[in-house]
Amino acid sequence: MDGWLRRWDAIHREGAAGRPAAAARGVASFYALAQAPETEVCHGTACHLARIRRGLSAPAGTAVYCLGHCHAGPAVRDHGALTPPEVPVEVRTLTGRPLVTPRLELGCVTLAGYRALGGFAAAAQALRAPGADILAALEVARLRGRGGAGFPVARKWRAAAEAPGAQTAVVVNGDEGDPGSFIDRLILARDPFAVIEGLLLAGHAIGAERGVIYIRHEYPEAAAVIEDALAQAQAAGWLGDDIQGSGVAFHITVARGKGSYVCGEETALLNHLEHRRGEVRLRPPYPVTSGLDGWPTVVNNVETLVNVPLIVRDAAAFARQGTEGSTGTVAMCLDGGFARPGVVEVPFGTPLSTVLLEAGGTAGLAAVVLGGPMGSILGPDQWDVPVCFDAMQARDVRLGHGGLVALPAGTDWASLLRHWLSFAAHESCGRCAPCALGTQQALRAREDLPQVRAILDVMAGGSLCAFGRSLPQPLRWILDRLEGGR
Ligand SMILES: Cc1cc2nc3c(=O)[nH]c(=O)nc-3n(C[C@H](O)[C@H](O)[C@H](O)COP(=O)(O)O)c2cc1C
Ligand code: SF4
Repeated sequence: MDGWLRRWDAIHREGAAGRPAAAARGVASFYALAQAPETEVCHGTACHLARIRRGLSAPAGTAVYCLGHCHAGPAVRDHGALTPPEVPVEVRTLTGRPLVTPRLELGCVTLAGYRALGGFAAAAQALRAPGADILAALEVARLRGRGGAGFPVARKWRAAAEAPGAQTAVVVNGDEGDPGSFIDRLILARDPFAVIEGLLLAGHAIGAERGVIYIRHEYPEAAAVIEDALAQAQAAGWLGDDIQGSGVAFHITVARGKGSYVCGEETALLNHLEHRRGEVRLRPPYPVTSGLDGWPTVVNNVETLVNVPLIVRDAAAFARQGTEGSTGTVAMCLDGGFARPGVVEVPFGTPLSTVLLEAGGTAGLAAVVLGGPMGSILGPDQWDVPVCFDAMQARDVRLGHGGLVALPAGTDWASLLRHWLSFAAHESCGRCAPCALGTQQALRAREDLPQVRAILDVMAGGSLCAFGRSLPQPLRWILDRLEGGR
């Protein structure tokens, strides 16, 4: 039993006190990486396919999904050292006025460097005005969340600001679990002050004094950069009890994940922060009325938040990019299966085919995975779809977090099905039966395609969260290929 308590203690030292041993076992056994393994082998889709391309088999070690080096996989972290070592990401833009990527190639990790590029100007302006002004700017900009659901940010923040409760909180979702996406890793590691400024503005907008940056276990380098940036911001008076003499108080802490894809779901993430199993919560209540420790809480994606300082400075200019319903830009990640991997920032409304051209063209491409395992697989008949929430929703295409993974002609669909089902069975949080049992049963039944299809129908219709409800769509696409011999 002591072993469980030690493992739990390793997860949340302060949370271990005074809880029964069974509770310790329940929490510690949930997290795949409760004790950091010596060797983490990335089994994310991009690295899985990279090994197939190169005729490699996965080395021994603990399987993780994923290390976020999809542009240069297959990746392994052994005793803290990455293989291949950090490969520079080529960052490009198809917009005359890039919003998210300008500082990524530069790597803006000193406060002086960030200030020299206009950093904290938005905060300096906003902290001297009521937080409601930030909400008004967001309404003009019509910013929508980049974490997958495209939820209007102003509506979420207003709900938290107006919810009853003496205290509120803001949480940055840096879990970035989708294999194929690594933009949040880049932002956290190369533009940390933009995350801090976005979070500070969110706090002021809803009257919160408490911010948390949650970073997945697999991104230790990014977490170290953020911790250093927080120390710099604190020392320079951009965090604390009276920020720059404005009378506004705001404090930020960093929390590190322990290996769970579903902890990217906002209520599972909050459970992790509260030292519980990272299971999805029943809703309502939604986090905006009862989130972290019961406080009204805003949870936002990393990429969402770095847009906020730009909006505070010029909301109308922000809204001029993109489409009516999807304003601004989105950073699309391209895995190593494309001729030109990296990140390309595009205005919303850009056809996917244009992004694929930028990725090096479509020769030899059978399909692409868009938005990770809960996203969509798109064949050539779908490549004309505009990258934008509404047009994609109308065609039942999921943008997710904007990651693209190339599926070459000749892809072994049976092997891809096995890969996807293994991921699903590994990562289901176990909270609801259709997904907890369905993912295990589908993996076992993978040779029996009609049976897999029947299980997916139950999962899609009866699961509690988007994990179980969304996974069936790309899996059915693969089943169509296998059954139709396409
Ligand atoms: C299984 C699952 C995993 C998720 N993983 C992430 C993630 O890694 N990062 C993220 O920002 N949102 C993730 N989300 C979405 C979050 O629940 C939430 O909608 C998001 O953090 C809100 O931020 P946004 O409004 O800025 O997009 C996930 C959702 C589900 C159902
Ligand atoms: S659908 Fe899967 S991940 Fe979501 S709550 Fe149910 S068991 Fe957990």
